[in-house]
Amino acid sequence: MIIEPRTRGFICLTSHPTGCQQNVIDQIEHIKSKRAINGAKKVLVIGASTGFGLASRITSAFGSDAATIGVFFEKPPSAGRPASPGWYNSAFFEEEAHKAGLYAKSINGDAFSKEIKRQTLDLIKADLGQVDLVIYSLASPVRTHPETGVKYKSVLKPIGSSYKNKTVDFHTGVVSDISIEPAVGDDVDNTIAVMGGEDWKMWMDALQEEGLLANGSKTVAYSYIGPALTEPVYRKGTIGRAKDHLEATAFEIGDSLKAIGGEAYVSVNKALVTQASSAIPVIPLYISLLYKVMKEKGIHEGCIEQIQRLFQDRLYSDSTPTDDQGRIRIDDWEMRDDVQAQVAELWEKATTETLPSIGDLEGYKKDFFNLFGFMVPGVDYDKDVNEMVEIAGLQ
Ligand code: NAD
Ligand code: NA
Repeated sequence: MIIEPRTRGFICLTSHPTGCQQNVIDQIEHIKSKRAINGAKKVLVIGASTGFGLASRITSAFGSDAATIGVFFEKPPSAGRPASPGWYNSAFFEEEAHKAGLYAKSINGDAFSKEIKRQTLDLIKADLGQVDLVIYSLASPVRTHPETGVKYKSVLKPIGSSYKNKTVDFHTGVVSDISIEPAVGDDVDNTIAVMGGEDWKMWMDALQEEGLLANGSKTVAYSYIGPALTEPVYRKGTIGRAKDHLEATAFEIGDSLKAIGGEAYVSVNKALVTQASSAIPVIPLYISLLYKVMKEKGIHEGCIEQIQRLFQDRLYSDSTPTDDQGRIRIDDWEMRDDVQAQVAELWEKATTETLPSIGDLEGYKKDFFNLFGFMVPGVDYDKDVNEMVEIAGLQ
């Protein structure tokens, strides 16, 4: 079987196992090329299969020789159909970790549910005893509440008034004006219920109640701020309200963790192409301009570079510097004045005609296809992947 990308809107319906394997290997190589991090030894990553969560798992395992348990929601292969990319990422991560003599097990299912929390707690109890780092990196459009059974849907809308700006269809390169209508009814509360901090707190409470957090444990969840330009649809929109809630929850969790000398943080990360971010209007145009500017300045980073720097220079350095709201800022290079001034200038000029030269649309596209294992350098896409597709490496 030869697998080709098949896209529909913001998603790619197929994925390439060898490409996903190569992505994982490349991320591992990046971590091995840096010095060891004096980090955690037993790590739980919730949302471990793609994006920042996968990078956190790889950084822990190959930067600090950590045992890792990864929780995620991915689709296994079926009847000749490829699995979702996060499935392959995790299977090949486990393979590489085991080759390196590292403990690595994964749990595939709904992290919001009681069942998956129970399974995870039992696995920690049986295999690791305790963990000393919990990374919370879920990005989901829906959440079924474990107590009430209510299914919440998050939305990406401005609050108060409609928002007009430009956006790009990164498949065609067409820049067009869009208008997004403001949140109505329970949109804000629903988005907070999905992407706010309640579930993170439930995980941490359960772990702490059952004595599964070692003394001095840390936990980190990921947030985003971004520029004034995207504020109405991101930081001051429905998703921003959920991030406000997530950030406030860090203080609540931090208070509970004081009993064991632990700490809870939110880290504000850089805008990057992931499955979660490609679905947000306006953000792809912003990212394609941002990439251009940051690459020209030699300060572009992907998920693995971001998380490596987060662990080495913030989380496990002598002190953990935070902003005036207690947040770790690893979006510092994205938010630099010179970077933002240049992006704002380019934003004004961005049209279908100018974008190929003033923006990094190619870089955006490449990163998008890379998420699914396509366009990865060094992969022979003409090679039959029958055996790879149904890899059964996940436990
Ligand atoms: P992603 O889509 O790459 O990863 C999401 C992860 O969550 C995957 O491992 C997926 O399997 C898992 N997941 C989703 N629903 C689940 C469920 N019900 N049960 C178990 N696992 C589930 O997203 P990402 O961009 O890495 O986002 C992770 C976090 O980082 C989010 O909080 C996001 O807001 C934040 N963040 C993203 C960016 C960005 O630009 N991408 C920037 C800053 C912060
Ligand atoms: Na993630």
